[in-house]
Amino acid sequence: MSDRVALITGSTRGIGRGIAGQLAKKGINIALNGRSRGEHVGEAIEVCSKEGVEVDFFQADISDSEAHRSLLDEIQDKWGRLDILVNNAGVAPTERKDILQSKEESFDRVLRINLKGPYFLTQKVSNWMIEQKKQNSSREPIIVNISSLSAYTSSPSRGEYCISKAGISMMTKLYADRLAEFGINVYEIRPGIISTDMTEGVREKYDRMIYEEDLLPIERWGEPEDVGKAISALAEGGYPYTTGEVINVDGGFHLRRL
Ligand SMILES: NC(=O)c1ccc[n+]([C@@H]2O[C@H](COP(=O)([O-])OP(=O)(O)OC[C@H]3O[C@@H](n4cnc5c(N)ncnc54)[C@H](OP(=O)(O)O)[C@@H]3O)[C@@H](O)[C@H]2O)c1
Repeated sequence: MSDRVALITGSTRGIGRGIAGQLAKKGINIALNGRSRGEHVGEAIEVCSKEGVEVDFFQADISDSEAHRSLLDEIQDKWGRLDILVNNAGVAPTERKDILQSKEESFDRVLRINLKGPYFLTQKVSNWMIEQKKQNSSREPIIVNISSLSAYTSSPSRGEYCISKAGISMMTKLYADRLAEFGINVYEIRPGIISTDMTEGVREKYDRMIYEEDLLPIERWGEPEDVGKAISALAEGGYPYTTGEVINVDGGFHLRRL
């Protein structure tokens, strides 16, 4: 067990919960977060606490920058430190709509949750991590941003989502550049098609593409734990001379094939 603490935004279910479970396996204490204290919270706590780490749930809407301060204050009060931030919370458009018809409200909602919220949460966490590093230079804090294959793949029926994820890619570069001098590395994980509530509505379409149309070299859906294992490898500290790097967790989707 270590004294390290990880905050994973949007970790009551889906990919976030998979990440929390894998980091807990490494003995890292877990700050779970979600917009609501819904039915999934108990299950997420159970996934982590069975690994013998301390885990707590912190309710906060990541799109609300007023809520960031109290979220971080609560973590400070409980553990007095934060070693890993995973910007995972994110949403798809409520309704897929062609860019020739889509509405500003959906654009604003998706950008606020998927990009603006994480951007300013990361600003606050970065300043806190810089302070912690000054007090104890042996710490190796990291920040991991969950983007998507949509950061570089056009889906004109959810343009706002693609733009938000392309923004997360640039955010990774910006913070990686700015925080390197403080010994804080920043990484981007690009998941492919992962089995969660978010993809439930398009399950049949992706089943067809994966199992009948040869979309992926690794012929299966991704699981939340696949993303969690990649972050767990980063959290082991095996990449001290690497920052701003992108890791595709996508079954090989990004490969050009002939
Ligand atoms: N699934 C995929 O195929 C896929 C692929 C590439 C990238 N991603 C990205 O991976 C991340 C997680 O996706 P997922 O598939 O696991 O989604 P999901 O199953 O819908 O889970 C989303 C999680 O985020 C939380 N959340 C949503 N809005 C929030 C907000 N404003 N503040 C705090 N928490 C919030 C939800 O909490 P509540 O229940 O309280 O709302 C939930 O815990 C997203 O950024 C998504 O874009 C997913």
